[in-house]
Amino acid sequence: MDWGMKNRLSRIIRPETGRTVMLAVDHGYFLGPTTGLQEPGKTIAPLIPYADSLMLTRGVLRSCVTTATDIPIVLRVSGGTSILGNLANEATTVSMKDALRLNVSGVALSIFVGSDLERQTLLAMADLINEGEDCGVPVLAVTAVGKDMARDSRYLGLACRIAAELGAHVVKTYYCEDFEKVVKNCPVPIVIAGGKKIPELDALKLAFDAVSRGAVGVDMGRNIFQSEHPVAMIRTVREIVHNNMPLDKAVDMYKTLSKEKETAFA
Ligand code: R5P
Repeated sequence: MDWGMKNRLSRIIRPETGRTVMLAVDHGYFLGPTTGLQEPGKTIAPLIPYADSLMLTRGVLRSCVTTATDIPIVLRVSGGTSILGNLANEATTVSMKDALRLNVSGVALSIFVGSDLERQTLLAMADLINEGEDCGVPVLAVTAVGKDMARDSRYLGLACRIAAELGAHVVKTYYCEDFEKVVKNCPVPIVIAGGKKIPELDALKLAFDAVSRGAVGVDMGRNIFQSEHPVAMIRTVREIVHNNMPLDKAVDMYKTLSKEKETAFA
Protein backbone atom coordinates (compact mmCIF):
# COMPACT_ATOMS: atom_id res chain seq x y z
CA MET A 1 0.00 0.00 0.00
CA ASP A 2 1.37 3.38 -0.99
CA TRP A 3 2.14 6.17 1.50
CA GLY A 4 -0.79 8.33 0.40
CA MET A 5 -3.32 5.54 0.82
CA LYS A 6 -1.89 4.59 4.23
CA ASN A 7 -1.80 8.20 5.35
CA ARG A 8 -5.41 8.80 4.35
CA LEU A 9 -6.52 5.60 6.06
CA SER A 10 -4.73 6.64 9.23
CA ARG A 11 -6.66 9.92 9.15
CA ILE A 12 -9.88 7.91 9.19
CA ILE A 13 -8.97 5.09 11.60
CA ARG A 14 -6.90 6.67 14.36
CA PRO A 15 -3.53 4.91 14.69
CA GLU A 16 -3.39 5.60 18.46
CA THR A 17 -6.29 3.23 19.13
CA GLY A 18 -7.04 1.55 15.81
CA ARG A 19 -10.57 2.88 16.19
CA THR A 20 -12.71 5.64 14.73
CA VAL A 21 -15.72 7.83 15.42
CA MET A 22 -17.06 8.93 12.06
CA LEU A 23 -19.92 11.40 12.06
CA ALA A 24 -22.37 10.59 9.25
CA VAL A 25 -24.28 13.62 7.98
CA ASP A 26 -24.79 12.58 4.36
CA HIS A 27 -28.46 11.62 4.74
CA GLY A 28 -29.74 14.51 2.63
CA TYR A 29 -28.42 12.89 -0.55
CA PHE A 30 -31.55 10.77 -0.70
CA LEU A 31 -33.66 11.97 2.26
CA GLY A 32 -33.54 15.71 1.59
CA PRO A 33 -33.82 17.92 4.69
CA THR A 34 -33.54 15.16 7.28
CA THR A 35 -34.64 15.99 10.83
CA GLY A 36 -31.69 17.55 12.59
CA LEU A 37 -29.89 18.35 9.34
CA GLN A 38 -32.16 21.09 8.00
CA GLU A 39 -29.26 23.47 8.51
CA PRO A 40 -26.28 21.12 8.32
CA GLY A 41 -23.65 23.72 9.24
CA LYS A 42 -25.34 24.49 12.56
CA THR A 43 -25.68 20.81 13.42
CA ILE A 44 -22.17 19.84 12.44
CA ALA A 45 -20.14 22.69 14.00
CA PRO A 46 -20.41 21.73 17.70
CA LEU A 47 -19.83 18.05 16.92
CA ILE A 48 -16.68 18.41 14.82
CA PRO A 49 -14.30 18.61 17.82
CA TYR A 50 -15.38 15.12 18.90
CA ALA A 51 -15.47 13.37 15.51
CA ASP A 52 -12.50 11.70 13.82
CA SER A 53 -14.00 12.32 10.39
CA LEU A 54 -17.09 13.69 8.70
CA MET A 55 -19.03 11.67 6.15
CA LEU A 56 -21.00 13.98 3.91
CA THR A 57 -21.73 15.09 0.36
CA ARG A 58 -19.72 17.60 -1.63
CA GLY A 59 -22.63 20.04 -1.63
CA VAL A 60 -22.82 20.23 2.13
CA LEU A 61 -19.03 20.20 2.43
CA ARG A 62 -18.63 23.16 0.08
CA SER A 63 -21.50 25.18 1.48
CA CYS A 64 -21.55 24.35 5.20
CA VAL A 65 -18.05 23.41 6.38
CA THR A 66 -15.29 25.96 6.80
CA THR A 67 -12.19 25.45 4.66
CA ALA A 68 -10.15 26.23 7.78
CA THR A 69 -11.11 22.87 9.31
CA ASP A 70 -8.66 20.02 9.61
CA ILE A 71 -11.25 17.30 10.14
CA PRO A 72 -10.77 14.44 7.67
CA ILE A 73 -13.54 14.13 5.10
CA VAL A 74 -15.08 10.91 3.84
CA LEU A 75 -17.03 12.01 0.83
CA ARG A 76 -20.29 10.35 -0.21
CA VAL A 77 -19.86 9.84 -3.96
CA SER A 78 -22.92 7.76 -4.83
CA GLY A 79 -26.51 8.82 -5.29
CA GLY A 80 -29.02 9.55 -7.99
CA THR A 81 -32.11 8.27 -6.17
CA SER A 82 -34.49 9.62 -3.55
CA ILE A 83 -36.54 8.09 -0.78
CA LEU A 84 -39.46 8.22 -3.25
CA GLY A 85 -37.83 5.79 -5.70
CA ASN A 86 -35.77 2.61 -5.84
CA LEU A 87 -32.87 3.38 -3.52
CA ALA A 88 -30.71 0.67 -5.03
CA ASN A 89 -30.61 2.47 -8.36
CA GLU A 90 -27.52 4.48 -7.44
CA ALA A 91 -24.56 5.50 -9.54
CA THR A 92 -21.32 7.35 -8.88
CA THR A 93 -22.06 11.06 -8.62
CA VAL A 94 -18.65 12.61 -7.95
CA SER A 95 -15.45 12.20 -9.95
CA MET A 96 -12.25 11.18 -8.23
CA LYS A 97 -10.77 14.40 -9.58
CA ASP A 98 -13.31 16.47 -7.66
CA ALA A 99 -12.84 14.32 -4.55
CA LEU A 100 -9.10 15.04 -4.72
CA ARG A 101 -9.80 18.73 -5.29
CA LEU A 102 -11.78 18.63 -2.05
CA ASN A 103 -8.77 17.09 -0.31
CA VAL A 104 -10.77 14.14 1.01
CA SER A 105 -9.37 11.32 3.12
CA GLY A 106 -11.76 8.76 1.67
CA VAL A 107 -14.76 8.24 -0.56
CA ALA A 108 -17.93 6.29 0.22
CA LEU A 109 -20.60 4.64 -1.85
CA SER A 110 -23.42 2.23 -1.21
CA ILE A 111 -23.73 -1.29 -2.50
CA PHE A 112 -27.07 -3.09 -2.62
CA VAL A 113 -26.23 -6.79 -2.45
CA GLY A 114 -29.33 -8.91 -3.04
CA SER A 115 -31.22 -6.21 -4.91
CA ASP A 116 -32.07 -6.38 -8.59
CA LEU A 117 -29.38 -3.73 -9.08
CA GLU A 118 -26.70 -5.59 -7.14
CA ARG A 119 -24.39 -5.92 -10.17
CA GLN A 120 -24.63 -2.23 -11.04
CA THR A 121 -23.70 -1.12 -7.53
CA LEU A 122 -20.91 -3.68 -7.13
CA LEU A 123 -19.33 -2.74 -10.45
CA ALA A 124 -19.59 0.94 -9.53
CA MET A 125 -17.74 0.12 -6.32
CA ALA A 126 -15.08 -1.85 -8.21
CA ASP A 127 -14.56 1.09 -10.60
CA LEU A 128 -14.29 3.49 -7.67
CA ILE A 129 -11.75 1.23 -5.96
CA ASN A 130 -9.69 1.12 -9.16
CA GLU A 131 -9.64 4.92 -9.23
CA GLY A 132 -9.00 5.07 -5.49
CA GLU A 133 -6.00 2.77 -5.86
CA ASP A 134 -4.68 4.97 -8.67
CA CYS A 135 -4.97 8.09 -6.53
CA GLY A 136 -4.27 6.74 -3.04
CA VAL A 137 -7.84 7.31 -1.82
CA PRO A 138 -9.50 4.64 0.37
CA VAL A 139 -13.04 3.50 -0.41
CA LEU A 140 -15.67 2.97 2.28
CA ALA A 141 -18.32 0.51 1.09
CA VAL A 142 -21.71 1.13 2.67
CA THR A 143 -23.65 -2.13 2.79
CA ALA A 144 -27.04 -0.56 2.31
CA VAL A 145 -30.05 -2.66 3.11
CA GLY A 146 -33.00 -2.62 0.72
CA LYS A 147 -36.62 -2.80 1.80
CA ASP A 148 -36.88 -6.60 1.56
CA MET A 149 -33.53 -7.53 3.02
CA ALA A 150 -33.01 -8.78 6.56
CA ARG A 151 -30.34 -7.15 8.67
CA ASP A 152 -28.96 -10.48 9.88
CA SER A 153 -25.44 -11.85 10.06
CA ARG A 154 -25.98 -14.04 7.00
CA TYR A 155 -26.99 -11.17 4.73
CA LEU A 156 -24.68 -8.53 6.23
CA GLY A 157 -21.82 -11.06 6.28
CA LEU A 158 -22.37 -11.71 2.59
CA ALA A 159 -22.42 -8.01 1.70
CA CYS A 160 -19.37 -7.14 3.85
CA ARG A 161 -17.31 -10.02 2.51
CA ILE A 162 -18.12 -9.18 -1.11
CA ALA A 163 -17.16 -5.54 -0.50
CA ALA A 164 -13.85 -6.64 1.02
CA GLU A 165 -13.16 -9.17 -1.75
CA LEU A 166 -13.66 -6.47 -4.37
CA GLY A 167 -11.12 -4.31 -2.57
CA ALA A 168 -13.02 -1.92 -0.31
CA HIS A 169 -10.65 -0.55 2.33
CA VAL A 170 -13.29 -0.12 5.05
CA VAL A 171 -16.83 -1.51 5.22
CA LYS A 172 -19.80 0.07 6.89
CA THR A 173 -22.63 -2.15 7.99
CA TYR A 174 -25.27 -2.59 10.68
CA TYR A 175 -24.88 -4.23 14.04
CA CYS A 176 -26.74 -7.55 14.26
CA GLU A 177 -27.00 -10.74 16.28
CA ASP A 178 -23.81 -12.82 15.85
CA PHE A 179 -22.00 -9.68 14.74
CA GLU A 180 -18.64 -11.26 15.56
CA LYS A 181 -19.25 -13.69 12.67
CA VAL A 182 -19.65 -10.74 10.28
CA VAL A 183 -16.36 -9.28 11.57
CA LYS A 184 -14.51 -12.61 11.45
CA ASN A 185 -15.53 -13.18 7.85
CA CYS A 186 -14.58 -9.71 6.68
CA PRO A 187 -10.82 -9.17 6.24
CA VAL A 188 -11.02 -5.36 6.33
CA PRO A 189 -12.10 -3.01 9.15
CA ILE A 190 -15.82 -2.66 9.82
CA VAL A 191 -17.65 0.39 11.17
CA ILE A 192 -21.31 0.36 12.09
CA ALA A 193 -24.10 2.73 11.17
CA GLY A 194 -26.40 3.77 13.96
CA GLY A 195 -29.60 3.41 11.96
CA LYS A 196 -32.89 5.08 12.85
CA LYS A 197 -33.04 7.10 16.05
CA ILE A 198 -33.44 4.93 19.13
CA PRO A 199 -33.28 5.92 22.81
CA GLU A 200 -29.85 7.29 23.70
CA LEU A 201 -28.96 4.56 26.17
CA ASP A 202 -29.82 1.91 23.56
CA ALA A 203 -27.61 3.69 21.02
CA LEU A 204 -24.74 3.71 23.51
CA LYS A 205 -25.22 -0.03 24.02
CA LEU A 206 -25.20 -0.50 20.26
CA ALA A 207 -21.84 1.27 19.99
CA PHE A 208 -20.48 -0.66 22.98
CA ASP A 209 -21.63 -4.04 21.64
CA ALA A 210 -20.27 -3.29 18.17
CA VAL A 211 -16.74 -2.40 19.29
CA SER A 212 -16.73 -5.19 21.89
CA ARG A 213 -17.46 -7.62 19.07
CA GLY A 214 -14.82 -6.36 16.68
CA ALA A 215 -16.00 -3.22 14.89
CA VAL A 216 -13.26 -0.59 14.65
CA GLY A 217 -15.82 2.06 15.42
CA VAL A 218 -18.96 3.79 14.31
CA ASP A 219 -20.10 5.88 11.38
CA MET A 220 -23.09 7.20 13.25
CA GLY A 221 -25.55 9.87 12.25
CA ARG A 222 -29.12 10.11 13.49
CA ASN A 223 -28.43 8.69 16.93
CA ILE A 224 -26.06 11.57 17.44
CA PHE A 225 -27.49 14.57 15.62
CA GLN A 226 -31.15 13.75 16.37
CA SER A 227 -30.40 13.26 20.06
CA GLU A 228 -31.69 15.82 22.48
CA HIS A 229 -28.04 16.11 23.53
CA PRO A 230 -25.86 15.57 20.46
CA VAL A 231 -22.60 16.72 22.04
CA ALA A 232 -23.14 14.52 25.10
CA MET A 233 -23.86 11.59 22.77
CA ILE A 234 -20.80 11.96 20.57
CA ARG A 235 -18.51 12.57 23.53
CA THR A 236 -19.78 9.42 25.22
CA VAL A 237 -19.61 7.35 22.04
CA ARG A 238 -16.03 8.55 21.69
CA GLU A 239 -15.12 7.23 25.14
CA ILE A 240 -16.69 3.87 24.32
CA VAL A 241 -14.94 3.60 20.97
CA HIS A 242 -11.48 4.92 21.80
CA ASN A 243 -11.14 4.13 25.49
CA ASN A 244 -13.28 0.98 25.83
CA MET A 245 -15.40 2.73 28.46
CA PRO A 246 -17.66 0.14 30.12
CA LEU A 247 -21.34 0.60 29.34
CA ASP A 248 -22.43 1.50 32.89
CA LYS A 249 -19.77 4.23 33.07
CA ALA A 250 -20.77 5.45 29.62
CA VAL A 251 -24.39 5.74 30.69
CA ASP A 252 -23.33 7.76 33.74
CA MET A 253 -21.16 9.95 31.53
CA TYR A 254 -24.00 10.61 29.09
CA LYS A 255 -26.39 11.46 31.92
CA THR A 256 -23.91 13.89 33.44
CA LEU A 257 -23.00 15.54 30.14
CA SER A 258 -26.61 15.81 29.05
CA LYS A 259 -27.25 18.13 31.98
CA GLU A 260 -24.66 20.54 30.60
CA LYS A 261 -25.79 23.31 28.28
CA GLU A 262 -25.51 22.42 24.61
CA THR A 263 -25.91 24.47 21.51
CA ALA A 264 -26.12 21.77 18.81
CA PHE A 265 -29.05 22.34 16.47
CA ALA A 266 -30.78 24.66 18.91
C1 R5P B 1 -27.05 6.09 4.68
O1 R5P B 1 -26.91 5.47 3.65
C2 R5P B 1 -26.10 7.07 5.07
O2 R5P B 1 -24.87 6.75 4.50
C3 R5P B 1 -25.88 7.30 6.54
O3 R5P B 1 -24.69 7.97 6.67
C4 R5P B 1 -25.80 6.06 7.36
O4 R5P B 1 -26.98 5.37 7.33
C5 R5P B 1 -25.32 6.31 8.80
O5 R5P B 1 -26.15 7.11 9.48
P1 R5P B 1 -27.13 6.59 10.61
O6 R5P B 1 -26.26 6.32 11.80
O7 R5P B 1 -28.08 7.71 10.80
O8 R5P B 1 -27.77 5.31 10.13
